[in-house]
Amino acid sequence: MEPYKIKMIEPLPMLTREQRSEALRSADYNLFRLRADQVTIDLFTDSGTGAMSAEQWAALMLGDESYAGARSFFRFERVVRDLTGHPHVLPTHQGRAAERILFSSLLRPGQASVSNTHFDTTRANVELAGGRAIDLPCEAAADLDGKEPFKGDLDAAALESLLAGGAYVGCVIVTVTNNAGGGQPVSMANLRAVREICDRYGVPFFLDAARFAENAYLITQREPGYAAHTPRQVAEEMFALADGCVASLKKDGIANIGGLITLRSQELADRCRELLIATEGFPTYGGLAGRDLEVLARGLVEVTDPAYLRHRADTAAWFAAELEAAGFPCVRPAGCHAVYVDARRVLPHVPPERFPAQALACELYVEGGIRGFEVGTLSFGGPDGPAPYELLRLALPRRVYTRGHLEHVVRSAAAIAARAGSISGYRITRAPQSLRHFTAELVPA
Ligand code: F0G
Repeated sequence: MEPYKIKMIEPLPMLTREQRSEALRSADYNLFRLRADQVTIDLFTDSGTGAMSAEQWAALMLGDESYAGARSFFRFERVVRDLTGHPHVLPTHQGRAAERILFSSLLRPGQASVSNTHFDTTRANVELAGGRAIDLPCEAAADLDGKEPFKGDLDAAALESLLAGGAYVGCVIVTVTNNAGGGQPVSMANLRAVREICDRYGVPFFLDAARFAENAYLITQREPGYAAHTPRQVAEEMFALADGCVASLKKDGIANIGGLITLRSQELADRCRELLIATEGFPTYGGLAGRDLEVLARGLVEVTDPAYLRHRADTAAWFAAELEAAGFPCVRPAGCHAVYVDARRVLPHVPPERFPAQALACELYVEGGIRGFEVGTLSFGGPDGPAPYELLRLALPRRVYTRGHLEHVVRSAAAIAARAGSISGYRITRAPQSLRHFTAELVPA
């Protein structure tokens, strides 16, 4: 059960099926274009959508809004240093600002950043800084049904041969958990192996720590030798292996906004701070209000509560199993922050160029007012062909929806699965050159 109770509520928009069909048509079948008051259950993202605790709301009032040297910054800095052991703590307004500042300060033109999988903004910021983003996911990641516990691992052998071959690599960044790769965790053994290889070749090693606590919890559950560790101890060990991190704190900071860079290197921190001042804000607020820093200082401690993480992981596993029983096969094993429905198996008759995951997303909206996120050919395909997978991500905002809400999603999925054969795909009528999924207009094909 939820290890918390509800103190404040927000009514859900309830529309009729006709109203939803009309809303979707007006949105040109692109769920980004829906208004929030047209969505009943919003599983679009777990980013910035969490519910704060009473402690966090109370802390908000302690926000010190001084431009320089704010008390709130020093509280935030202490919490982050205790967690990561990294001496330099730079707040940013969200994760992608941290990425931009780190990569612009670190990478030389043509230098590569190597990752298990760069999140899409991470890749974009590597490229904007003149670098090259190379993804080396482990082999098991490609098997959506495979039961391997750590499908988020980076392919350490491939990293080794890349570096041995003399590749021009500026950094390695491991995304924990691997969002783009199905929300799969990375093992401590893999982080240790990457650290060792980076040491041998003199390459700095960073974490994309957006979901560090969820990764740490899954290590306690799945990795031999860690069953007796707390998630907090595992998280500290993960950070201890890295030279620094970038993080979107809109996830495991359990806050609505925030980002972070931590570093061991004084010299790199100095360069990042220069850019931070020019583009985000003075280093003691970095684009955030003092009240945000207060909220984050509590969120970063609350998030490693074992009862909270157990409930979160159990919910995702239960949700994936129920969806599967309803006829929506999911990527296994489930992680924490989302379940990923394999749209190809629900709609085998819809080819990738007709966007099966988008078709499923539209159907789920009309059926139950539920908004999910297409992770398939609409978002990641293009001139080079279709995306490797056609997934519908149903993200789980932190501490927001109860099992009753998710049961509604499962019932809606069952209704769709029963008529899957009659569901058709979509085609694009208008789209920009890049990042087309955000604004594309579609019609049923
Ligand atoms: N890294 C990872 C692993 C992420 O999942 C995200 C955001 C970012 C970086 C960028 O952080 O949004 O604070 O600038 N993921 C969101 C999502 C958008 O829905 O998965 P940001």
